[in-house]
Amino acid sequence: MVEPVRDSATLVIEDLVAGYGAVQVLRGVSVTAPAGTITAVLGANGAGKTTLLRAIDGSVRPRRGRIRLSGADVAGRRPEEVARAGIAHVPEGQGVITELTVAENLQLGLLLRPRADRKAALAEIYRRFAILADRRNRAAGTLSGGERQMLVIARALATAPRVLLLDEPSLGLAPKVVSNVLELIKGLRDEAGLTIVLVEQNARSALAIADTGIVLNLGAVVASAPAAALAADDALRRHYLGF
Ligand SMILES: Nc1ncnc2c1ncn2[C@@H]1O[C@H](COP(=O)(O)OP(=O)(O)OP(=O)(O)O)[C@@H](O)[C@H]1O
Ligand SMILES: [Mg+2]
Repeated sequence: MVEPVRDSATLVIEDLVAGYGAVQVLRGVSVTAPAGTITAVLGANGAGKTTLLRAIDGSVRPRRGRIRLSGADVAGRRPEEVARAGIAHVPEGQGVITELTVAENLQLGLLLRPRADRKAALAEIYRRFAILADRRNRAAGTLSGGERQMLVIARALATAPRVLLLDEPSLGLAPKVVSNVLELIKGLRDEAGLTIVLVEQNARSALAIADTGIVLNLGAVVASAPAAALAADDALRRHYLGF
């Protein structure tokens, strides 16, 4: 069990414009991720999904727009400040530190918590992620792809976030492992009440667990609706979602 989120938070993004140097990627994106729900962010390669998460977490500086969490605008703040405000980003590509052990990777996430809370928080993580408890003293580089994905999610949870941003957590994993990861994400909403933004290429799987979703195309929102409505829209699926 992950401890319940103390004050669940709605993430509201308004008119976000961001890019890299002269390249404009996001062209005025607005999306609300309601507290305690999963919002799927879908769209083809290059649509701007990762850039959206980077603009939220502060690693790409927005040129315009607001990013509000419980009323406070975090747009333009530095990544450390955004993390302290309660937004944790699990980036694409399984960013574990391979030379460190599983336990040491988790300790990095725990640094954001008061020292007195860390031991109990770690015990809770090991209860939810039994596989990580078994492997706590192994170098993270020796883990399988699925185990590494569990570790990066667990490390993000160790920071006690209110909002979890996940960038393609199923990428490169075997189908059985993908369903384990998606079940875990569902549990974080249902049991811990986390607000989750889930970027996925695998639109069908993401919509199966999401409450709402948006579709990005060339940096703009082309659809925003309850997940079931997106999944039932044949034209949208054919044009943008590939299933
Ligand atoms: N560091 C960068 N510098 C310049 N352009 C970039 C940079 N990172 C991404 N881009 C460009 O921004 C656009 C959006 O990229 P982004 O990574 O946000 O897409 P994505 O939707 O996450 O795609 P994918 O599904 O392939 O992960 C692309 O055209 C990409 O080439
Ligand atoms: Mg991406």
